Amino acid sequence: MNIDTLKNLLTRAASAFEESKTLVELRDREVEFLGRKSEINVFLKTLSMLSPEERRELGAFANVVKREMSVACESARVRLSELSFDFEKDRIDVTDTEGKLPVGHLHVLTRVHRDICVVFRSIGFSVADGPEVETEFYNFDALNIPADHPARDMQDTFWIVSELGRDRQGRSKRLALRSQTSSAQVRYMETHTPPFRIIVPGKVFRAEATDSTHEHTFHQFEMLVVDDEASVGNLKYTSELFFSRFFGKAVHVRLRPSYFPFVEPGFEFDISCLVCDRKGCSSCRGAGWLELGGAGMVHQNVFEAAGYPRDRYRGYAWGFGLERLAMMKYKISDIRLFHGGDIRFLNQF
Ligand code: PHE
Repeated sequence: MNIDTLKNLLTRAASAFEESKTLVELRDREVEFLGRKSEINVFLKTLSMLSPEERRELGAFANVVKREMSVACESARVRLSELSFDFEKDRIDVTDTEGKLPVGHLHVLTRVHRDICVVFRSIGFSVADGPEVETEFYNFDALNIPADHPARDMQDTFWIVSELGRDRQGRSKRLALRSQTSSAQVRYMETHTPPFRIIVPGKVFRAEATDSTHEHTFHQFEMLVVDDEASVGNLKYTSELFFSRFFGKAVHVRLRPSYFPFVEPGFEFDISCLVCDRKGCSSCRGAGWLELGGAGMVHQNVFEAAGYPRDRYRGYAWGFGLERLAMMKYKISDIRLFHGGDIRFLNQF
């Protein structure tokens, strides 16, 4: 080889790459001109056999030729790749979801749970927590429900076979699956000094037969506000504010006298029917109101159980079922659907 044959080789290779019509053809040409047995590579291997002057002159030039050939090959490849892209056939329709892997989403209860927390945080509440396996003390005794009190029968409890003893303060260590999120009230108060505003979302358990409105495992939302002058008026206002924001429309709250050992006075509370707004329709069976949960002013015995001085603070609390709220919001007729695992139900949300 000499300078001229090398120049000639570069010209031949460049036009071969340039004239290739497909990527496969180009690949063959690449092997031919740049492969291990190609003229240029065979020549570069024999350089050592030349005299030092020839080697210096031709070696440097041969390397330039090789580099130029690679560049020509690469630009031909870019050109062919663009050409081989069929814009009609390979067009990406970003609105087409057909045939894609299904993507999961949040469970409807998780969504409702998060929505509730967002509303409460927006009005200055913190979200607190408590254990699902709870002692008899926090679930009952501290809430002014002594062992022989008939109110225990209001909630059928799943007891866990455990130690029956008491701790040094005389508190029962017997364990149960908590039957209400109210069990978190005294736990929280023991480590916090008023004023505070909290909600406690969580799973609760009751040994009940299931039907379209009862589950053995469900979720509650507890609200607890304690300060110097909390009142029933505040309870009603806060509830109306919350439900109106949650449902995105004006909702009224009605309190009816009721009994829960840990509040005095105690109430059942209803919200105005979301369909007819108190007029009475088929969805509220003519009542105009929907029953939602229990509420009341925190009993001083509960404050005492938490170690607060008696009659120093005032507080209000409320608790309702998350499933029930979700059923109202999405018009779901059977509570068992939530954990039934039927994908046709879940996919609707
Ligand atoms: N814990 C009660 C229940 O499960 C509801 C409730 C909460 C009532 C707070 C009054 C105050 O039914």
